[in-house]
Amino acid sequence: MFETLKPLPPDAILGIMTLFRADPHPGKIDLSVGVYQDEQGRTPVLASVKRAEKTILDAQDSKTYVAIAGNAGFNRGIEDLLYGKDHPSLKAGRVVTVQTPGGSGGLSVAGHLVARATPGARIYMSDPTWPNHQPLLKSAGLTLDTYPYYDYAKHRVDFEPMIARLDKANAGELVLIHGCCHNPCGADLSKEQWEALTQLCERRNLVPFIDIAYQGLAEGLDEDAFGVRLMAARLPEVVVVTSCSKNLGLYRERVGAASVVSANAEAAKLAAANAANVARGIYSMPPDHGAAIAGYILGNAELRAQWVKELAEMRARLNGLRRLLVDKLAVRKTPMDFSFIAKERGMFSFLGITKEQVIRLREEFHVYMVESSRINIAGINHGNVDRVADAIAAVLK
Ligand SMILES: Cc1ncc(COP(=O)(O)O)c(C=O)c1O
Repeated sequence: MFETLKPLPPDAILGIMTLFRADPHPGKIDLSVGVYQDEQGRTPVLASVKRAEKTILDAQDSKTYVAIAGNAGFNRGIEDLLYGKDHPSLKAGRVVTVQTPGGSGGLSVAGHLVARATPGARIYMSDPTWPNHQPLLKSAGLTLDTYPYYDYAKHRVDFEPMIARLDKANAGELVLIHGCCHNPCGADLSKEQWEALTQLCERRNLVPFIDIAYQGLAEGLDEDAFGVRLMAARLPEVVVVTSCSKNLGLYRERVGAASVVSANAEAAKLAAANAANVARGIYSMPPDHGAAIAGYILGNAELRAQWVKELAEMRARLNGLRRLLVDKLAVRKTPMDFSFIAKERGMFSFLGITKEQVIRLREEFHVYMVESSRINIAGINHGNVDRVADAIAAVLK
């Protein structure tokens, strides 16, 4: 039967990675990868994670299953991170959170849960969005649609067309919103825009589906949850999906969560039972180790403080590199103004150059990025930033 399967087009990012590996140039620079890197180009295990991990491994006396909904301490810790300790929807018993295998698992569980309640429900995704949103939500049974999000010429959120499109959506339809650090464009909603979007959802009865995979990497843990907290306080129903891949660096451990705010505590109980049942039908039980680490850190004052500090360092590095790249490009007097990069947040931004220029960067200057010109800011460091800026300035001449 497998000979009947259709061949797949090559994956854009994997293709760039292959070209990068094959390039023998000693000064080659990879800005295409999707993970955080430090000044030395490593994606290290956080010190707080190492400490938690040791304690957990020593104390662990069984490998039996945890629970379908995962580690209860982790789920509580995630709720505090997302909504803040005293959020009214938590107090009202309207929130249900299940541990999932990564943010991707969270998107799948939340998508299936929505599709169970409203078969074929329509979800509007930002254009552009993280490419994995489409297969994850489509296979959950949702109907995919888009709204305009990024103005490539002005390098900012295209808010009016976005609102105009969503104003035509029907009651009960969903809006996928990046909570912070938009992937791929780096342009986030301002507080005023979150407010306007909340009002629109209220007026048109739309359900926000917030994917917050980078909490803490834009402005701070609380600041980055502004939209989640606002919408969860004002709207009857909100879906939130989060990930510990980036902010705790737990990528391969597969830790994330799907959290649902329901209209009342009764509906929340139904959501909890159905979310667990959905998970049972996909992967049965979540992995333990990563969530045990995250849960331990979130529940231990000393380790939490250490993690918050490590997270602040990652954030400061990203925001500092944004500023540095903009300054380095400005002194080279490039014909394009790149100051928008310093206003964007998270790991990614589009340089906004042409595909031909991206290819020249790769072939002539050994600087690699995906063809959309999305760069991973964390791939830059103090040792290569001048070469990156020189190369960009050269292809823009
Ligand atoms: C926007 C967005 N959502 C979700 C994820 C999920 O990540 P993971 O499944 O590795 O936790 C990512 C990872 O790159 C992402 O960029």
